[in-house]
Amino acid sequence: MRKKIIAGNWKMNKTVQDAVELANAIKLDLAGCKEVDVVLCPPFTALKAVSDVVSETLISVGAQNMSSEDDGAYTGEISHTMLKELFVRYVILGHSERREYYKETDLWINKKMKKALEKNLRPILCVGEKLEVREAGETESVVEEQVREGLKDIPAAAYTELVIAYEPVWAIGTGKTASSEQAQEVHAFIRGIVKDMVGKDAADAVRIQYGGSMKPANAGELLAQPDIDGGLIGGAALEARSFVDIVKAGI
Ligand code: PGA
Repeated sequence: MRKKIIAGNWKMNKTVQDAVELANAIKLDLAGCKEVDVVLCPPFTALKAVSDVVSETLISVGAQNMSSEDDGAYTGEISHTMLKELFVRYVILGHSERREYYKETDLWINKKMKKALEKNLRPILCVGEKLEVREAGETESVVEEQVREGLKDIPAAAYTELVIAYEPVWAIGTGKTASSEQAQEVHAFIRGIVKDMVGKDAADAVRIQYGGSMKPANAGELLAQPDIDGGLIGGAALEARSFVDIVKAGI
Protein backbone atom coordinates (compact mmCIF):
# COMPACT_ATOMS: atom_id res chain seq x y z
CA MET A 1 0.00 0.00 0.00
CA ARG A 2 1.52 3.32 -1.06
CA LYS A 3 1.00 6.26 1.29
CA LYS A 4 -0.34 9.28 -0.55
CA ILE A 5 1.83 12.38 -0.77
CA ILE A 6 0.43 15.87 -1.31
CA ALA A 7 2.96 18.65 -1.91
CA GLY A 8 2.29 22.36 -2.26
CA ASN A 9 4.52 24.02 -4.84
CA TRP A 10 4.34 27.68 -3.93
CA LYS A 11 6.53 28.70 -6.90
CA MET A 12 7.70 32.34 -6.81
CA ASN A 13 5.02 33.44 -4.37
CA LYS A 14 4.95 34.49 -0.71
CA THR A 15 7.25 36.75 1.25
CA VAL A 16 8.61 35.32 4.48
CA GLN A 17 5.74 36.84 6.42
CA ASP A 18 3.10 35.50 4.01
CA ALA A 19 4.76 32.08 4.01
CA VAL A 20 4.72 31.90 7.80
CA GLU A 21 1.03 32.82 7.85
CA LEU A 22 0.16 30.17 5.28
CA ALA A 23 2.26 27.49 6.98
CA ASN A 24 0.67 28.29 10.33
CA ALA A 25 -2.83 28.06 8.88
CA ILE A 26 -2.03 24.69 7.27
CA LYS A 27 -0.44 23.47 10.49
CA LEU A 28 -3.64 24.14 12.44
CA ASP A 29 -5.37 21.40 10.42
CA LEU A 30 -2.60 19.07 9.39
CA ALA A 31 0.11 19.09 12.07
CA GLY A 32 -0.68 15.51 13.10
CA CYS A 33 -1.76 14.15 9.71
CA LYS A 34 -0.53 10.55 9.57
CA GLU A 35 -2.57 9.21 6.67
CA VAL A 36 -0.98 11.40 3.99
CA ASP A 37 2.56 12.78 3.66
CA VAL A 38 2.19 16.56 3.54
CA VAL A 39 5.01 18.64 2.02
CA LEU A 40 5.27 22.43 1.74
CA CYS A 41 7.64 23.81 -0.92
CA PRO A 42 8.07 27.55 -0.38
CA PRO A 43 10.63 29.67 -2.26
CA PHE A 44 14.22 29.39 -0.97
CA THR A 45 13.94 32.65 0.99
CA ALA A 46 11.12 31.27 3.14
CA LEU A 47 12.49 27.74 3.74
CA LYS A 48 13.96 28.52 7.12
CA ALA A 49 10.85 30.28 8.41
CA VAL A 50 8.53 27.52 7.17
CA SER A 51 10.81 24.83 8.62
CA ASP A 52 10.58 26.58 11.97
CA VAL A 53 6.77 26.68 11.79
CA VAL A 54 6.39 22.97 11.01
CA SER A 55 9.16 21.61 13.22
CA GLU A 56 7.68 19.08 15.65
CA THR A 57 4.79 18.35 13.26
CA LEU A 58 4.42 15.60 10.66
CA ILE A 59 4.55 18.19 7.86
CA SER A 60 7.74 18.18 5.77
CA VAL A 61 9.45 20.94 3.85
CA GLY A 62 10.66 20.75 0.26
CA ALA A 63 12.68 23.01 -2.03
CA GLN A 64 11.74 23.82 -5.63
CA ASN A 65 15.17 23.21 -7.12
CA MET A 66 18.75 22.28 -6.16
CA SER A 67 22.17 22.47 -7.74
CA SER A 68 23.72 19.30 -9.09
CA GLU A 69 27.06 20.46 -7.62
CA ASP A 70 28.34 20.30 -4.04
CA ASP A 71 29.74 23.82 -3.70
CA GLY A 72 31.87 26.37 -5.53
CA ALA A 73 31.57 29.05 -8.17
CA TYR A 74 27.92 28.62 -9.26
CA THR A 75 26.39 32.05 -8.84
CA GLY A 76 22.74 31.97 -7.87
CA GLU A 77 22.64 28.25 -7.08
CA ILE A 78 21.70 26.45 -3.84
CA SER A 79 23.35 23.20 -2.71
CA HIS A 80 22.09 20.10 -0.92
CA THR A 81 24.09 21.05 2.18
CA MET A 82 22.36 24.42 2.33
CA LEU A 83 18.94 22.78 2.02
CA LYS A 84 19.60 20.13 4.62
CA GLU A 85 20.81 22.76 7.04
CA LEU A 86 17.26 24.19 6.87
CA PHE A 87 15.67 20.76 7.53
CA VAL A 88 14.51 20.39 3.94
CA ARG A 89 13.61 16.76 3.14
CA TYR A 90 12.20 16.92 -0.39
CA VAL A 91 13.25 18.71 -3.54
CA ILE A 92 11.22 19.24 -6.72
CA LEU A 93 13.42 18.62 -9.77
CA GLY A 94 12.80 19.15 -13.46
CA HIS A 95 9.58 21.11 -13.12
CA SER A 96 8.24 22.02 -16.57
CA GLU A 97 8.78 25.71 -15.81
CA ARG A 98 12.47 25.02 -15.21
CA ARG A 99 12.69 22.91 -18.36
CA GLU A 100 10.97 25.62 -20.39
CA TYR A 101 12.37 28.90 -19.01
CA TYR A 102 15.78 27.80 -17.74
CA LYS A 103 16.47 25.12 -20.33
CA GLU A 104 17.03 22.29 -17.89
CA THR A 105 17.71 19.09 -19.77
CA ASP A 106 17.00 15.47 -18.87
CA LEU A 107 20.73 14.88 -18.44
CA TRP A 108 21.09 17.74 -16.01
CA ILE A 109 17.95 16.76 -14.10
CA ASN A 110 19.28 13.20 -13.81
CA LYS A 111 22.48 14.56 -12.28
CA LYS A 112 20.43 16.47 -9.72
CA MET A 113 18.31 13.39 -8.99
CA LYS A 114 21.40 11.33 -8.23
CA LYS A 115 22.91 14.07 -6.10
CA ALA A 116 19.72 14.47 -4.07
CA LEU A 117 19.46 10.72 -3.43
CA GLU A 118 23.14 10.42 -2.58
CA LYS A 119 22.66 13.16 0.03
CA ASN A 120 19.45 11.67 1.49
CA LEU A 121 17.06 14.23 0.09
CA ARG A 122 13.87 12.92 -1.50
CA PRO A 123 13.59 14.18 -5.07
CA ILE A 124 10.28 14.72 -6.85
CA LEU A 125 10.95 14.25 -10.56
CA CYS A 126 8.48 16.17 -12.72
CA VAL A 127 7.58 14.90 -16.17
CA GLY A 128 4.78 15.78 -18.57
CA GLU A 129 3.89 16.63 -22.14
CA LYS A 130 3.01 19.95 -23.75
CA LEU A 131 -0.31 20.48 -25.51
CA GLU A 132 1.12 20.08 -29.01
CA VAL A 133 2.68 16.78 -28.00
CA ARG A 134 -0.64 15.44 -26.70
CA GLU A 135 -2.45 16.63 -29.83
CA ALA A 136 0.14 14.92 -32.02
CA GLY A 137 -0.46 11.66 -30.12
CA GLU A 138 3.11 11.62 -28.79
CA THR A 139 2.42 11.82 -25.05
CA GLU A 140 3.77 8.35 -24.31
CA SER A 141 7.03 8.69 -26.22
CA VAL A 142 7.81 12.10 -24.68
CA VAL A 143 6.94 11.04 -21.13
CA GLU A 144 8.86 7.79 -21.56
CA GLU A 145 12.00 9.63 -22.57
CA GLN A 146 11.73 12.02 -19.60
CA VAL A 147 11.22 9.10 -17.20
CA ARG A 148 14.01 6.94 -18.62
CA GLU A 149 16.52 9.79 -18.84
CA GLY A 150 15.56 11.42 -15.55
CA LEU A 151 15.85 8.13 -13.65
CA LYS A 152 18.82 6.74 -15.55
CA ASP A 153 21.22 4.64 -13.44
CA ILE A 154 19.21 5.10 -10.26
CA PRO A 155 19.13 1.79 -8.35
CA ALA A 156 15.86 -0.01 -7.56
CA ALA A 157 16.29 0.55 -3.81
CA ALA A 158 15.98 4.33 -4.26
CA TYR A 159 12.43 4.14 -5.61
CA THR A 160 10.94 4.09 -2.12
CA GLU A 161 12.56 7.50 -1.54
CA LEU A 162 12.01 9.26 -4.83
CA VAL A 163 8.67 10.50 -6.13
CA ILE A 164 7.55 11.04 -9.72
CA ALA A 165 5.10 13.84 -10.55
CA TYR A 166 3.16 13.56 -13.79
CA GLU A 167 2.22 17.10 -14.75
CA PRO A 168 0.75 17.59 -18.21
CA VAL A 169 2.06 21.05 -19.10
CA TRP A 170 -1.26 22.05 -20.69
CA ALA A 171 -2.97 21.53 -17.33
CA ILE A 172 -0.57 23.59 -15.21
CA GLY A 173 -2.10 26.84 -14.02
CA THR A 174 -4.64 26.75 -16.84
CA GLY A 175 -7.67 25.44 -14.97
CA LYS A 176 -7.71 22.51 -17.41
CA THR A 177 -7.26 19.29 -15.48
CA ALA A 178 -6.51 16.00 -17.14
CA SER A 179 -9.57 13.81 -16.65
CA SER A 180 -9.04 11.12 -14.05
CA GLU A 181 -8.99 8.54 -16.88
CA GLN A 182 -6.40 10.49 -18.88
CA ALA A 183 -4.22 10.88 -15.79
CA GLN A 184 -4.61 7.27 -14.67
CA GLU A 185 -3.63 6.06 -18.13
CA VAL A 186 -0.34 7.96 -18.07
CA HIS A 187 0.37 7.05 -14.43
CA ALA A 188 -0.06 3.34 -15.23
CA PHE A 189 2.17 3.82 -18.27
CA ILE A 190 4.89 5.44 -16.11
CA ARG A 191 4.68 2.62 -13.56
CA GLY A 192 5.12 0.18 -16.42
CA ILE A 193 8.30 1.95 -17.54
CA VAL A 194 9.67 1.80 -13.99
CA LYS A 195 8.90 -1.91 -13.90
CA ASP A 196 10.78 -2.39 -17.13
CA MET A 197 13.73 -0.35 -15.83
CA VAL A 198 14.17 -1.69 -12.30
CA GLY A 199 11.59 -4.40 -11.64
CA LYS A 200 8.16 -4.95 -10.13
CA ASP A 201 8.96 -4.24 -6.48
CA ALA A 202 10.30 -0.78 -7.22
CA ALA A 203 7.40 -0.09 -9.61
CA ASP A 204 4.87 -1.10 -6.94
CA ALA A 205 6.60 1.04 -4.34
CA VAL A 206 7.24 4.28 -6.23
CA ARG A 207 4.75 7.06 -5.64
CA ILE A 208 3.45 8.95 -8.66
CA GLN A 209 1.76 12.30 -8.02
CA TYR A 210 -0.53 14.10 -10.42
CA GLY A 211 -0.09 17.85 -10.93
CA GLY A 212 -1.97 20.36 -13.04
CA SER A 213 -4.93 22.40 -11.77
CA MET A 214 -5.67 19.95 -8.98
CA LYS A 215 -8.22 21.49 -6.61
CA PRO A 216 -10.65 20.35 -3.92
CA ALA A 217 -13.38 19.77 -6.52
CA ASN A 218 -11.39 17.27 -8.58
CA ALA A 219 -8.90 15.90 -6.05
CA GLY A 220 -11.12 13.12 -4.72
CA GLU A 221 -11.68 11.56 -8.12
CA LEU A 222 -8.05 11.88 -9.20
CA LEU A 223 -6.72 10.47 -5.93
CA ALA A 224 -9.10 7.52 -6.13
CA GLN A 225 -7.34 6.22 -9.27
CA PRO A 226 -5.23 3.13 -8.60
CA ASP A 227 -1.95 4.62 -9.86
CA ILE A 228 -2.35 8.20 -8.60
CA ASP A 229 -0.53 8.41 -5.28
CA GLY A 230 -0.85 12.08 -4.50
CA GLY A 231 -0.71 15.56 -5.92
CA LEU A 232 1.72 18.35 -6.66
CA ILE A 233 -0.39 21.43 -6.16
CA GLY A 234 0.39 24.91 -7.47
CA GLY A 235 -2.36 27.54 -7.40
CA ALA A 236 -4.59 25.74 -4.91
CA ALA A 237 -1.66 25.40 -2.48
CA LEU A 238 -1.40 29.17 -2.02
CA GLU A 239 -4.47 29.23 0.17
CA ALA A 240 -4.74 27.10 3.32
CA ARG A 241 -8.38 26.08 2.93
CA SER A 242 -8.05 24.63 -0.56
CA PHE A 243 -4.73 22.91 0.21
CA VAL A 244 -6.09 21.34 3.38
CA ASP A 245 -9.23 20.19 1.53
CA ILE A 246 -7.10 18.50 -1.14
CA VAL A 247 -5.09 16.70 1.56
CA LYS A 248 -8.34 15.60 3.21
CA ALA A 249 -9.55 14.24 -0.13
CA GLY A 250 -6.52 11.97 -0.03
CA ILE A 251 -7.30 10.48 3.38
P1 PGA B 1 -1.13 24.19 -10.73
O1 PGA B 1 0.46 23.91 -10.74
O2 PGA B 1 -1.74 23.38 -9.64
O3 PGA B 1 -1.26 25.68 -10.49
O4 PGA B 1 -1.65 23.79 -12.08
C1 PGA B 1 0.97 22.63 -10.52
C2 PGA B 1 2.49 22.66 -10.63
O5 PGA B 1 3.02 23.35 -11.50
O6 PGA B 1 3.20 22.00 -9.86
